[in-house]
Amino acid sequence: MGAKNIAPKIFAASVLFKDGLQINNVPLINDIENMAGLLRHLGAKTERVGERSFKLKPVLSLGTDLADDIAKSFRASIVLSGPLLVKEGRVSFPHPGGCVIGERPIDVFLESFEKMGAKIAKEGEKYVITANKLRGAEIVFKIPSVTATETLLMTAVFVPGTTILHNAACEPEIVALAEFLDDSGAQITGAGTHTIVIRGVKSLRAKKPFQTPPDRIETGSLAILAGVCGKDIEITECQPEYLKVFLRTLRNTGVNIKETKTSLRIQAPEKLRAIDVKTHEYPGIPTDLQSPLAVLMTQAEGRSFIFETVFEGRLNWLNELVRMGANITICDPHRVFINGPTLLRGRELESPDLRAGLAFMIASLVARGESIVHNISNIDRGYEKIEDRLRAVGAEIKRI
Ligand code: EPZ
Repeated sequence: MGAKNIAPKIFAASVLFKDGLQINNVPLINDIENMAGLLRHLGAKTERVGERSFKLKPVLSLGTDLADDIAKSFRASIVLSGPLLVKEGRVSFPHPGGCVIGERPIDVFLESFEKMGAKIAKEGEKYVITANKLRGAEIVFKIPSVTATETLLMTAVFVPGTTILHNAACEPEIVALAEFLDDSGAQITGAGTHTIVIRGVKSLRAKKPFQTPPDRIETGSLAILAGVCGKDIEITECQPEYLKVFLRTLRNTGVNIKETKTSLRIQAPEKLRAIDVKTHEYPGIPTDLQSPLAVLMTQAEGRSFIFETVFEGRLNWLNELVRMGANITICDPHRVFINGPTLLRGRELESPDLRAGLAFMIASLVARGESIVHNISNIDRGYEKIEDRLRAVGAEIKRI
């Protein structure tokens, strides 16, 4: 499946392309429907050409108010703020929605827009940002935020002069975005490092469709699933090179992994070994794989440890795993010990967010008895037809 955390950003970038753009290998997930809905609400054209391709075309003058209900349903909505502000001189939006995994403030975005000369106002729940003329600026992020890096990168493309983003995020999705913009006429250097330099240009023209790369978090999730459920599977059309630290850690559990440039053969061991995991910005262990890894730890021999460094509310879901029978000691909002192996018992579960929802499905597959996972729209936001993928590896599962 195409990457959930890049495709919607290309939809947002289409605002900057007078003649529009085409994007291929689009994942069939709710976040895409939501982003297309936001663009249509602003007056842009979104045409599906084939199952996994869209032609996106802005109009001369787009609306500048993001549709409240849609924007509040997913985090990536905020990425539209930058391209709209630089193109139309104004944008208004509610605090973005998405997974409840921490407070998720947007101070980095607001501070950066102000540095470029924008005015920030609050009208009720809405942020209203205006700018007669943005100017290049040297911006130091307090934290290497992924969506803030993507948003300010796209803003700076059309801002006269030079903008420097210090302490920028380095995720592969950001490199894919920067390369596409650069191929289309932007002047960006340093993407993939913590310092990105953008020289403003007047226009962009897409020379070829954007090919959405495979979703490395989906790849990692399926690899963990195979390891926990004692499977021997092959994951094809993936990019193991963007999961090096994670794969090193998964090998430490005893899972046998054969790797090629575009595939992974995952063979579960007789017994899983306990591991210590510290999540980190790229290239470290993705925080988005922490939840499925926690389930693996409940089945591993010994005491495992998780240090979640990116989000302060991403361990709360573990209480439900304890109710399934897991032996977990929560030290504080960032650290837990997990002792294993323990027998998990099936139960009714409420999916609190995308990755914990997927983790509940994996836990249900190793648990004794039946489980029912509610609120799966969370999971549909980031995994395509998940029950079909799981059934393909032998899971007894149905959507009700
Ligand atoms: C992106 O979220 C991804 N979402 C997340 O994936 C992913 O977990 C995260 O990056 C980290 O890799 C999308 O790309 C849509 P951040 P983002 O800004 O950009 C703090 C999934 O499961 N922060 O890099 O929102 C923030 O609170 C999702 O697919 C500020 O303090 O994450 C967090 O502690 C979940 N102020 C840290 O930075 C700001 O203005 C990193 O968050 C912005 C962020």
